[in-house]
Amino acid sequence: MTYVADKSRYEDMKYFRVGKSGLKLPAVSLGLWHNFGGNDRLENGRAMIHRAFDLGITHFDLANNYGPPPGSAEETFGKVLKQDMAAYRDQMIISTKAGYYMWEGPYGDWGSRKYLVSSLDQSLKRMDLEYVDIFYHHRPDPETPLEETMAALDHIVRSGKALYVGLSNYSAEQTAQASAILKQLGTPCLIHQPSYSMFNRWIEDGLQDVLDQEGIGSIVFSPLAGGLLTNRYLDGIPSDSRAGGPSVFLNSNSITEEKLAKVRALNEIAQSRGQSLAQMALAWVLRGGRVTSALIGASRVEQIDDNVAVLSRLDFSGDELQAIENILA
Ligand SMILES: NC(=O)c1ccc[n+]([C@@H]2O[C@H](COP(=O)([O-])OP(=O)(O)OC[C@H]3O[C@@H](n4cnc5c(N)ncnc54)[C@H](OP(=O)(O)O)[C@@H]3O)[C@@H](O)[C@H]2O)c1
Repeated sequence: MTYVADKSRYEDMKYFRVGKSGLKLPAVSLGLWHNFGGNDRLENGRAMIHRAFDLGITHFDLANNYGPPPGSAEETFGKVLKQDMAAYRDQMIISTKAGYYMWEGPYGDWGSRKYLVSSLDQSLKRMDLEYVDIFYHHRPDPETPLEETMAALDHIVRSGKALYVGLSNYSAEQTAQASAILKQLGTPCLIHQPSYSMFNRWIEDGLQDVLDQEGIGSIVFSPLAGGLLTNRYLDGIPSDSRAGGPSVFLNSNSITEEKLAKVRALNEIAQSRGQSLAQMALAWVLRGGRVTSALIGASRVEQIDDNVAVLSRLDFSGDELQAIENILA
């Protein structure tokens, strides 16, 4: 069946400006880290990409190593784009990254110009694209001079393989240094992609100030703490959940009674707001307008529906914010 995008897709989604750039991103973006790999059901991935786009999610976030196996999420996305959505390419912001281990030998990891340029070439081939909209350095490299990594990003934009560049997992200090170099080169840093959620607030301690000063936007990953800040684990660990699988980031060890007590208390506040806990967790990262987009993951279409419905209630009262602080304290 031919895919035709929902005509009303731009009616309800909100689009926020990325830092001081000309680009806007949807309040909710979709990441393909999990559930879009070669080991996952293609038809489920396809349905999620379609549904996301139908709901106004114009931004899809990838990386060279997403899968498993590494690279296969880009292949899945490229296939769906080519088969169903090629007509909408100019309505999409597609990002990818390099920075983690991708291939053997000294040139398949970290931050050299050699690695970044070859990795992006491979990503473009896997997705069958001429360019990506945003290319990220995925994590800081303690050994490669920052000047080399930033010059590689500048080169990538000038060669037409990416429209914008971003940084991920860089500290406040590293971001300030990298941003200064990129500005000098004439390719300003568009966006930073850090982790951020009610359970992980490191960016409040300096990074957000640097981003404001530098005019850089932010798209925050794992705003649901990988699923913990949802109703997923309220009654144990389902076998089809992330923590029920082989994840090293979220497993039975990380879902402690103490964490669950907080999740339950947060869930009560969400219910009193007429929201799901996932929706409240997303509204919370977007509060105050300092975050451009909440970058979610999903394993099924219904989760995307649930998450995008956050748009009907983004505001918080002072009392609600205080009650959340009391639980998180
Ligand atoms: N730059 C980086 O270093 C980095 C690192 C990590 C992630 N990322 C990016 O951020 C994206 C999102 O990361 P993430 O997947 O950890 O984000 P997340 O949104 O915190 O977690 C997503 C998981 O939460 C569960 N979920 C989502 N919506 C739900 C709902 N409404 N109700 C119940 N459960 C729900 C699903 O888990 P189940 O699978 O259990 O159903 C889903 O897979 C990634 O795809 C990637 O693009 C970037």
